[in-house]
Amino acid sequence: MAFPIHRARRLRMSPTIRHMVRETALTPHDFILPLFVVGGSDAGTKKPIKSMPGCYHVSPDVAAQMAQEAHSVGIPGIILFGLPVRKDPYGSRAWADDGAVQRAAREIKAAQPEICVICDTCLCEYTDHGHCGVLKDCTVDNDATLELLAKTAVSQARAGADMVAPSDMMDGRVAAIRRALDENGFINKPIMSYAAKYASSFYGPFREAAECAPSFGDRRGYQMDPGNAREAIREVALDIEEGADIVIVKPALPYLDIIKITRDTFSVPVAGYQVSGEYAQIKGAAAIGLVDEISNMMESLTSIKRAGADMIITYFAIDAAKVLAHQMMNNGYCGKPAE
Ligand code: PBG
Repeated sequence: MAFPIHRARRLRMSPTIRHMVRETALTPHDFILPLFVVGGSDAGTKKPIKSMPGCYHVSPDVAAQMAQEAHSVGIPGIILFGLPVRKDPYGSRAWADDGAVQRAAREIKAAQPEICVICDTCLCEYTDHGHCGVLKDCTVDNDATLELLAKTAVSQARAGADMVAPSDMMDGRVAAIRRALDENGFINKPIMSYAAKYASSFYGPFREAAECAPSFGDRRGYQMDPGNAREAIREVALDIEEGADIVIVKPALPYLDIIKITRDTFSVPVAGYQVSGEYAQIKGAAAIGLVDEISNMMESLTSIKRAGADMIITYFAIDAAKVLAHQMMNNGYCGKPAE
């Protein structure tokens, strides 16, 4: 047999060459940090969330501090989730001008005007039954929910949100929100829609963090079936048609194929959401010594970017940005994998 002419290892022989040929490298600008803001909490509140080690329930002032920290390490955006002072069947605290998210948005923009404040637009954190819309005969009433989502988005924009991110999966919500934003003068506020959002068991830790597990049934009547990929193309196409400016695929790592087909099929920016369960799995496995947390974190984030995500919503945002800064200081390279 002839000696091989092609030796792929030639380009792997030194850190410098490996860096030169690396196709995908993370930067802190790729990340969006989620924050959980508690309405009615005392100033200075920062309470660890049990299901998500390293994440906190925070008061609006602490959210502003964390946003500043995120900005200082190069993270361009944060996404806000609210835990209301009280819940009702309609989720009316979602559109309260003094709601947790609205107050946090104001405080964050006052403290750090440059950071992009994204508000998650959904009702499940605010309804007493935990579903993402209002109920009629024990199912979520799609069309009655649209008006409430639109009101929520307008109140978030009024509080200073730079973008709204509808995560409810109702049909027609992007169009309803676009219309309401435009009618209220917010023609330039983008909509980042959770376009391909799966009914995933990976949301478990978030539901504890946001106290929004449905009190009966599940979300399979509105979130997508994990077996479907073509349906994701249809969902994303509909959201873009209705006016979505950025589309989210969620979860990320178990759905890298969906990120890739979304990137290949459409030209709008794509965000991957590394959800609570993806985060908790790495944290939990690392805590009992089964995997190395930092290399698992960097490798999974790199995979999400390699699949085609232009941005990554991740609870690891600050940690990963710090790792990247450290790598830059030590060897001048970003995205150096574990040796
Ligand atoms: C609200 C919402 C959820 C998540 C983001 N927005 C929960 C859900 O749909 O059940 C999950 C995020 C995560 O798991 O990190 N609808």
